[in-house]
Amino acid sequence: MPAIVVIGAQWGDEGKGKATDLLGGQVQWVVRYQGGNNAGHTVVLPDGQDFALHLIPSGILNPSVRNVIGNGVVVNPTVLLDELAGLEARHVDAANLIVSADAHLIMPYHVEIDKVTERYLGKAKIGTTGRGIGPAYQDKVARVGVRVADLLDAKILREKVEAALDFKNQVLVKVYNRKALDVDEVVDSVLAAGREIEPRIADTRLLLNQALDAGETVLLEGSQGTLLDVDHGTYPYVTSSNPTAGGAAVGSGIGPIRISRVIGILKAYTTRVGSGPFPTELTDAMGEHLRKAGGEVGVTTGRERRCGWFDSVIARYAARVNGITDFFLTKLDVLSGLERVPVCVAYDVDGRRTDEMPMTQTDMHHAVPVYEELPGWWEDLSDCRTFGELPVNARAYVQRVEELSGARISAIGVGPGRDETITR
Ligand code: GDP
Ligand code: IMO
Ligand code: MG
Repeated sequence: MPAIVVIGAQWGDEGKGKATDLLGGQVQWVVRYQGGNNAGHTVVLPDGQDFALHLIPSGILNPSVRNVIGNGVVVNPTVLLDELAGLEARHVDAANLIVSADAHLIMPYHVEIDKVTERYLGKAKIGTTGRGIGPAYQDKVARVGVRVADLLDAKILREKVEAALDFKNQVLVKVYNRKALDVDEVVDSVLAAGREIEPRIADTRLLLNQALDAGETVLLEGSQGTLLDVDHGTYPYVTSSNPTAGGAAVGSGIGPIRISRVIGILKAYTTRVGSGPFPTELTDAMGEHLRKAGGEVGVTTGRERRCGWFDSVIARYAARVNGITDFFLTKLDVLSGLERVPVCVAYDVDGRRTDEMPMTQTDMHHAVPVYEELPGWWEDLSDCRTFGELPVNARAYVQRVEELSGARISAIGVGPGRDETITR
């Protein structure tokens, strides 16, 4: 079996953690290929214990899975150690985790710059998670980044930090009126973390390709979502990496033709955290209802998620830019108890109807959803385990969403637990 990609089809928090955990029984490897500890992936085990994972792949809760932090990820070494300690304290064996030598490090100055630039942007802020993600990727592209392999060479690490701080301290002090960071403190803290991480550092692209050659299955776990992709998302209100399926090849070192399945995780309604356009957003009592019913509070920052109706323009777009082979439709249970359930089928942009994503940022900001209203259902879905057990209107909802979205819905979530899933 070749490689499988799990990606978010909306603005993140679609339930990727649960999907990865669910597939964990069928795969030998789980790989994070982009993003960093801006992600928050929830996994609920059959015994009811729940885990919030940020940097470590969601396969870690499955003892037979080997987990990889790929070259495309940005790694905060201190956060990695804290997350490992948290898992070990809860008796999760995290021995099966390796980290790419080529992954870039999130340094203390990246976190500082992320927070301070957001403050300076004021009303124009992105609403980042403040974890240093954007500044770390900026340095990667500018070719002044520090990589995991640099943890193995104290002399090189110091040279790189000195060069970085020469410039960053000027910016911190002169532009942002902040205190300069001390080279020794930064180097010492990163090296101390590096000593603990060292046994996990590996040439992960070699190991993954060898595993595929040996017939093993590799699951590439996306974080964030299609509309947060720096190329295909609602730029500039995006994250600084490529969560879309193409990013999975780049961020892991696997050739694209080894990927045979791209699973799009699609929430039965829509949520977004941070700033940026969101055509189907509900700012009224109904939005509040979805937030409460769906428990829509950010796993990483604790911010309330913005909520709105299902948007098929976005789903079709995600299907296209990722080459989605099938969707997992999550949180259908949250929609129980509504008289009618609107679904966005197209946008009205300044009096013109469009069935596809607007080409320009201006048009996306002007997009007004065109809704089709479907009849609701009242039943609790959490005990349904087959498609036939769903109420007739819930089935009609799934079928209509499938028709509009451009790929088959192969699984439906009816609760957060591993077994609260219907496969079709
Ligand atoms: P991720 O970032 O895509 O992994 O998603 P998050 O973990 O941030 O948010 C998804 C939330 O929905 C988590 O609290 C999950 O436990 C929960 N969840 C996942 N699937 C379902 C489902 O089908 N029904 C319900 N009610 N909750 C779900
Ligand atoms: P998971 O993997 C939802 C959002 C932030 C902000 C934008 C940029 O749990 O789905 P960043 O810190 O990445 O520079 O912030 O992206 N964002 C997420 N929103 N889920 C996530 O991850 C997110 N990771 C980043 O809120 O709008
Ligand atoms: Mg999340």
